[in-house]
Amino acid sequence: MAIPGIKLNDNVSIPQIGLGTWQIKDESKCLETIKIGLEDGYRHFDTAQIYGNEQFIGRALKDSGISRGDLFITTKIWTLNFLSSRVIPSFDASLTKLQTDYVDLLLLHFPVPKLRHSAWKKMEEIQDSGRAKSIGVSNYTIKHLQRLLRDCRIKPSVNQVELHVFLQQPELLEYCKAEGIIVEAYSPLAHSYGLDNPILAKIAKKHSKSTAQIMLRWCVEVDTVPLPKSTTPERIAENIDIFDFKLDKEDMVELRGLDSNHRTCWDPTRIP
Ligand code: A2P
Repeated sequence: MAIPGIKLNDNVSIPQIGLGTWQIKDESKCLETIKIGLEDGYRHFDTAQIYGNEQFIGRALKDSGISRGDLFITTKIWTLNFLSSRVIPSFDASLTKLQTDYVDLLLLHFPVPKLRHSAWKKMEEIQDSGRAKSIGVSNYTIKHLQRLLRDCRIKPSVNQVELHVFLQQPELLEYCKAEGIIVEAYSPLAHSYGLDNPILAKIAKKHSKSTAQIMLRWCVEVDTVPLPKSTTPERIAENIDIFDFKLDKEDMVELRGLDSNHRTCWDPTRIP
């Protein structure tokens, strides 16, 4: 099944599902996970400097023999590298680890107070150089985005945030849509919280899918890009098998009711 793509505001096309790699630190586990992901059809891989696995992902992708142009690689600048003098050198180190001369998408990992504005200027320089085809942010709230949009030269293409049926963030989605920023959903399975929820189970039965697949399909229905993480071969395959069915209006209304502001990760809402 072909994976649909979404056009970002800079014309870069992003596959509408990516393999999340947070917490996959073990070398052989990481190599194996990427290999299985490629066999199952994933071409979009999401890593970060802080994940400690860029070098394994770089090796697995190189070893696969798949042409670079058919892959979509994202990494993120870690907060300790937000100083103006560190953004570009740390990015160079990421490229070396990833064994590539460009990434498809480079993100600022978190809205670090004060430093994030000068760090963004360095991101713009990186995009100008062609070494990141697209640049964006992660964990930004509406307030952080408004501030960035006021004085950026290049608009972020993406905001990667925690998003799932239990944390739907409709205002953020609406704001990003209006500004032409695509939302990527990390922890789209809420770290497996709620997979036994009866409403999810009912909808899953109706479509002959799993509850995890319903959670991931919801992300697609709201025009976001889910980044599920798994190291279990059957689940890696299950998670990408979400493009042969659609949720209907009634399903979406029922799923709307699951929103409970349930965060499994960072809460950036109090960051000034
Ligand atoms: P595992 O890696 O052992 O397969 P998220 O992407 O929301 O952060 O969730 C990741 C967690 O969800 C991991 O613990 C992962 O476990 C589990 N997981 C991933 N895919 C599935 C699935 N299809 N069904 C059940 N659990 C899953």
